[in-house]
Formats: sequence, C-alpha cells, structure tokens
Amino acid sequence: MANDSHRDGQFSEKLRVPEALTFDDVLLRPKESHVEPDDADVSTYVSRNVELNVPILSAAMDTVTESRMAIEMARQGGLGVLHRNMDVDVMVDEIEEVKRADELIIRDVVTANPDQTVREVDAMMERRGVSGAPVTGDDGRVLGIISGTDIRPYLEVGESDEVREAMTDEVITASEEVTAREALELMYEHKIERVPVVDDGNHLTGLVTMQGVLQRREYTDAARDEDGRLRCGVAVGPFETDRAVAADEADADVVFIDCAHAHNRNVIEGAREIKESVDADVVVGNIGTREAAEDIVDFADGLKVGIGPGSICTTRVVSGSGMPQITAIAQVADVANEYDVPVIADGGIRYSGDAIKAIAAGADAVMLGSYFAGTDEAPGRVITIDGKKYKQYRGMGSVGAMKSGDGDRYLKDEPDTEEEYVPEGVEAAKPYTGTLESELHQLVGGMQSGMGYVGAETIPAFKERSEFVRVSSAGQQESHAHDVMITDEAPNYSPGE
Ligand code: XMP
Repeated sequence: MANDSHRDGQFSEKLRVPEALTFDDVLLRPKESHVEPDDADVSTYVSRNVELNVPILSAAMDTVTESRMAIEMARQGGLGVLHRNMDVDVMVDEIEEVKRADELIIRDVVTANPDQTVREVDAMMERRGVSGAPVTGDDGRVLGIISGTDIRPYLEVGESDEVREAMTDEVITASEEVTAREALELMYEHKIERVPVVDDGNHLTGLVTMQGVLQRREYTDAARDEDGRLRCGVAVGPFETDRAVAADEADADVVFIDCAHAHNRNVIEGAREIKESVDADVVVGNIGTREAAEDIVDFADGLKVGIGPGSICTTRVVSGSGMPQITAIAQVADVANEYDVPVIADGGIRYSGDAIKAIAAGADAVMLGSYFAGTDEAPGRVITIDGKKYKQYRGMGSVGAMKSGDGDRYLKDEPDTEEEYVPEGVEAAKPYTGTLESELHQLVGGMQSGMGYVGAETIPAFKERSEFVRVSSAGQQESHAHDVMITDEAPNYSPGE
C-alpha cells in the first residue's frame, strides 16, 4: 500500500516546490518610528553611477515613454526610458530633445540675418516659436539682437525695412562659463530677456533666455547630468550594439538591455558586448532569479527584475513561466546587494504601496508602465468610450507593438504573417489621469508614508529596517476598502485596478 501512494505522486520530488510571493501576499510590518513621511528622503541609485532624487522610472514602452514623458520624468527627479520601437536616427533625435530641454545655454539658436526684412524675421520667429533672435553676420559674429518689441512699430510703418535698421546693436553677451545666477543678473541690470553666448572672437555659440533660467529653477529635484542637462534612459535590444553606441554618442545616461528573458546565454553575451562598447551605464534585464543575477552581476551596472508581472503581460499564461514579483526582487537583490549593484523592480505595480513593498524586498528603484500610461505626457491621444476618457496602453509583446517594432524582446524571429505572431502581451486602454506630476505626487507621497510606518528616513535604511508579514486572502480583503459604496474617487485608489 505504501508503495502505491508513492506511485500516486504524493511524494514526488517534482512537487516539492518552493513558495513564491507577490505584492498582495505581504504587508510591511509597522514599527516604532521617528520619521514623518514628508521628511523621508527617497533619493536612490538607478545604476552604479546614476543617482535620482525620486526612485521611479517610466517603462520603455511605445505607449508610455517618448521624449515628452522622459523630459517630465527627469524634471520631477525620476528617469524616463525611451522605448525602442523607433529607428536609430529617431531615437537619437529623441535623446537630444531630452538633453536639450532644460539646458541653460541653448545651442540650437534661431538667428536673424541683417539683410532680411523685418516682415521675414517676424514670420520666421513666429514659425520657430521664439520671441527674439540674435542677428549674426555670415561669419557667425554677433551684430545685434532683435525682439518682438523692436519689430512691432516696423510692422505698422516699415515692414520691408532691413533687420539692421530695427535691431538693437549694443548687445549684452556672456561667455561659455556664464552661470544661471550671472545670466539673471545681466538680464536684471540691462532689462533684457536673452543673452547671447559668444567665444573670444564674438562668434555666437549659444543663448541664455530668462524663460530657460526660470524653468530650471522650478525643478529643484530634477535628475541632471554633470553638465546640468536632464538625464535620459534608453532601451536597446541585446543584439543591437549599433543602437547602443548611437545612444551613447547622443549622451544617453543609462542604456537598458531590454529583453523578456535576459538569463539566456546569447543575451548575456550581447549585453557584455554592449557594455564594452559604451561609456553610459548598462542595466541588464529582465531577470527573476538568484542564478540569473549571479550570471550577470559581474558586468552589469544595474539589474532589472520582472518576468511576467506587468499589467499587460501574458507571458506567464502563454509560456507557463514566470516568478511572482516580490520573490523575484528579493532573490535578485540578495546577490546584487553584495556587489553594490542597484536593482530595479519592473512591472506589476498598481498602487504606491506596491512600489514601496518592492523597495522593501530589495529594489533600489521601481519601473512602471500602466501607472503612467493615462497621463498627458504618455504618447497617443485621449479617446472617449461611453463618455469616459482613456489612452491606449499596450504590451510591447502584443501583436500591434511587435508589428511596429522588432519582436526580438521575446527572442522570436519575425514571422511572415500576422497570424504567426505568438504574443506575450495585450492591447488595452487606461483611464485618462491628467498630468504626470500629479500621478508622481501620489506615488511618491504613498511611498514616503510607507517609510514613515517603518521608521526609516532613507531608502537604504528602509531596505535594512523593513520586514514583511504574510497576508491571508481574508487579510487582503480587509486591506482594500470594504463594505462600503465609494462615493468620491480618491486620487490614489480605485478598487480592483
Ligand atoms: P506595468 O504593470 O507597470 O508593467 O504595466 C510594465 C512592464 O511590463 C513589461 N512588459 C511586458 N511584459 N509582455 C510582457 O510579458 C508584454 O507585452 C509587455 N510589455 C511590457 C515591461 O517590463 C514593462 O516595463
């Protein structure tokens, strides 16, 4: 009889399986605290050399991160990771757009020629969206400066006059070394709004504007590089060394090797080659186990975790493979912490509580797609269904996304027909949520509350001090709003999301 039950499979070694947990399975154990949430410092490292004031990244997805999102993410202190469903030259333009966005010295200066008519210059300034322009000779020397105020009377009585007549020819200029403070002082002293930057020979090299200086001051937490430009991340395929080199030359700060399963020999080899070819930090992902971390941690500047937790992912049901996210993060972090390599938890975060649980499990930063897909800054337009506003959100492994890019994130060959795609994601929509700034405010505020409950003032201290308790399904129900009918929507909670 004993032998029979053995044969029934009851004692099969194959079924002696470890438990793996995800966000809803755990809660942070409250602890004695001397930390007020608003005082919690959320700055962190996203890769060996790149520090952020806010531990949040926007996902490299074509319905989440293009330059507009990346600019706003960096201004708010996080990092946007540009997706890779675009040609390399478009990607380079996008990176440059982010890098230029808050530059103190504008390099792409709209200039006027002294021989142009006032009418021509007025039309040109309108077209280029500027309200003034330095006037330069053929050799690039600054001869004057012209603004809307100079032009206005001429438009009434002398619009065919030449710019040389209308311009101000006593120009206040600055050198390349000018600081924001000095530029503002010059503007204040001379009652001007723009200061051309020149070299020793008075050749124009850039322009500082009042609007530019004030804009920079507004974003005190922004993620900036050594030159004060906004930080920018970019996704590349594991076999796309050329794309990675182009991104590096365009001054991207972090290159993300973007693959659904990075614990693959060819992917690791490709990632190593890319790491050797670029100066930027290289984050490798996605992985979800201790063994994967061990095989990658020696050369990567960061590890990204997530095998199938994403809201639009179907990897786990399509392939039968995956790792619940809290366990995945904890396993990778066990290895990464020993090497001081930052860990990014990517996917599955629905609430701010999930984000701070990811940090407690060992992540240094979190990456989100669905949370940001409904914002103004995400690509795509607002659509209305039954009177409610939405924005499109689709998995990068969905048929639609694979068709408009390279499906090699999933290590599959390009099929001949649409029916032959084996997708690992769906195409969906997210309720429209307004500005990224207000979404981030809720997300970061909730994470800081978590740090307050645990009593940790910094991210490293929180990782150390936080402990989980395991939650039953009754406990999960208790966690959500229950036994009530919600009458007013909260800005950071919608049930069953
Ligand atoms: P959330 O939950 O924030 O997840 O929307 C975003 C992350 O999901 C991953 N991703 C996918 N995973 N199939 C997958 O299995 C897909 O089609 C897909 N598209 C994105 C990706 O890591 C992203 O950051």
